[in-house]
Amino acid sequence: MKTKQELNNAFQSIFQTNRTPRTFFAPGRINLIGEHTDYNGGYVFPAAISYGTYALGAKREDQTLRFYSMNFPEKGIIECDLANLSFNDAHDWANYPKGIFLYVMEAGFNLSHGADILYYGNIPNGAGLSSSASIELATGVLVEGLYEKTIDRIDMIKLGQKVENHYIGVNSGIMDQFAVGMGKENHAMLLNCNTLEYSYAPVNLNDHVVMIINTNKERKLSQTKYNERRAECEAALTNLQQALKIDSLGELTKEEFEANKHFITNSTHQKRAKHVVYENTRTLQAFDELQQGNLEAFAQLLNESHISLRDDYEVTGAELDTIAETAWSLDGVLGARMVGAGFGGCAIAIVEKEKTENFKEQINKIYKEKIGYEATFYTVAIGDGAKEIIEEV
Ligand code: GLA
Repeated sequence: MKTKQELNNAFQSIFQTNRTPRTFFAPGRINLIGEHTDYNGGYVFPAAISYGTYALGAKREDQTLRFYSMNFPEKGIIECDLANLSFNDAHDWANYPKGIFLYVMEAGFNLSHGADILYYGNIPNGAGLSSSASIELATGVLVEGLYEKTIDRIDMIKLGQKVENHYIGVNSGIMDQFAVGMGKENHAMLLNCNTLEYSYAPVNLNDHVVMIINTNKERKLSQTKYNERRAECEAALTNLQQALKIDSLGELTKEEFEANKHFITNSTHQKRAKHVVYENTRTLQAFDELQQGNLEAFAQLLNESHISLRDDYEVTGAELDTIAETAWSLDGVLGARMVGAGFGGCAIAIVEKEKTENFKEQINKIYKEKIGYEATFYTVAIGDGAKEIIEEV
């Protein structure tokens, strides 16, 4: 963690300036439940976390954009011109903010000057907590602030997803950008990914906390596998459309699915679709249980979600399974599941506050035995979405 003063100083010394930058922040996210449902027109139930990306920026007189990340100091200052924002492999991480600048301008906002922007993130990279959506939205609110524009928040969220889908080339859904852009302190949001209708639910866990457990597994294959799952769901949908007038798997009830599943010719595709339909129902149920304060019932649905992601969607792997299954066996744990795309990344667990030390010890004992290295633990608060930071960081 760095103070605002430390970040200001870093900005001034890296960009060799005495201008005072403005500071913006966008969180990372967890997803309580509703996994691999967003691109199937289903429900998700994510929340923004208190970890995220800080972006400090000041406008320049000319047309140059300069980006620097304190997380990738070896990449140095990455420089480009507002008039040439096309994707460039050599620009590495800075393609994310470049993509935002490009699409904001393409959306009709006239940005007449360049800027110097320093990034500092405290979300572990590649851990499946949406560090990329966090950079995108931090840049979005920075552009709004520095250039005195008002960008409709849902439009900004869609611009972020467009950067992933068309600029970077990752075929992801809307959940990450939505959670990062719309987060609310102490609340999770139930989002219908088909209509983008949403509602907030307070996350009151009484004497429990949400613990994030990082598998520390490199997620090399995740992109290929992610796209493969999408394609499998699309194939299942095409089969079902012979019998049903639906545009997405998210429209199906469990009963409708069971009555029509024989139209899905491939048994693997059938399992994928089953996960989506059942997960969707669980997500709505979990929202209700949490609203009513039924923590145990809520957490039980989290466990069922993991099992379905393990057996039917097959995106967990030994690391996430070891964490979730060990967590289920521990005293003081209400529930645990993987979050995000899977294949590594993070799990979450609802753990009794008093038992968190024991939780970490026990998980790591078994995890190290089975996997060969340790997991990392974070206890985070549920925070606000992307915004300018006026007070001390
Ligand atoms: C990744 C994607 C999201 C979503 C999840 C799985 O985080 O970016 O859009 O599909 O995986 O729920």
